[in-house]
Amino acid sequence: MTASEMPHGGKIAILGAGAIGQLFYHQLSAHGLAPVLMTREASAGSQALEFTDLNGETIKRQAQLIDKSALASCELLIVCVKAYQVEEALQPLLGALSADTHILLLHNGLGPHLAIAPHLAGRGLSLGTTSQGALKLGRWQIKQTGAGLTQLGHGLGPRLTESLRQALLEAIDDSEWCEPILPMLWQKLAINIAINPLTAINGCRNGALIEDQYRPTILALIQEVLAVANAEGIALEQDRLTERVYRVIQLTASNYSSMHQDIHHGRQTEIEAITGYLLSRAAVRGIDTPANEAIYRQLKSLEQGG
Ligand code: PAF
Repeated sequence: MTASEMPHGGKIAILGAGAIGQLFYHQLSAHGLAPVLMTREASAGSQALEFTDLNGETIKRQAQLIDKSALASCELLIVCVKAYQVEEALQPLLGALSADTHILLLHNGLGPHLAIAPHLAGRGLSLGTTSQGALKLGRWQIKQTGAGLTQLGHGLGPRLTESLRQALLEAIDDSEWCEPILPMLWQKLAINIAINPLTAINGCRNGALIEDQYRPTILALIQEVLAVANAEGIALEQDRLTERVYRVIQLTASNYSSMHQDIHHGRQTEIEAITGYLLSRAAVRGIDTPANEAIYRQLKSLEQGG
């Protein structure tokens, strides 16, 4: 069977071939969905990829890279770029998509969906989040570093078709469809707020945060998320959220968080869509968030080389 003869073959495009984009590429490919990949820098063609799974087994795949001209036939575009790149990466492509291409945003943090919503021209938008961990070993070589829940759900406009929804849930390990999705995205925001800046500032793996010395800070960060989320009409429960944060710390213990990796490689971080989003909503609601403000300042100074 060729890719175009497979159900959805070539119809799912993944925009962004970072660690998470490649991880989803491999998970969808393993289920015969024959996705295609699109990146800013690589031109259309065939590309050898290498993936090491959680059992240490290495699988090689030949990926089809596409350019803008091939987007018109895509049913679904999964956007796996960093939060701060979503608007810039997506806007120039919208005109190349068909009127009914569905878009799925998968990034850490919150905010970009609000920026792109006015430009969707009636297209459907789904939102998602993943706690799976992956590390780039080379440009086209990744290793899965942690298992974790992936939650997807409806955002705006027309809904993702039932067959694509089922296909994604079958292909992505430990995934679920959630309605409404916003409370799940807030929970993931809390996980990223608690883990990412602390691991970047302290130069440690996620697992180090289990130590008692970090507990008061983690609890203060979570309490501030709860206060802002509640003011936004999102009811989160403190004990369950704290337990979930610590479960992710354990499940991804050997991981370097994405923010740690960004700081380590001198790249821009997702702090604006993570802690920054919380601070902006806290300002609108008139809520004090001193723990997050302190962490935000430290991270920004680190990002600027301080
Ligand atoms: O950003 C990350 O690194 C991940 O979202 C998570 C879940 C914190 C695991 O490292």
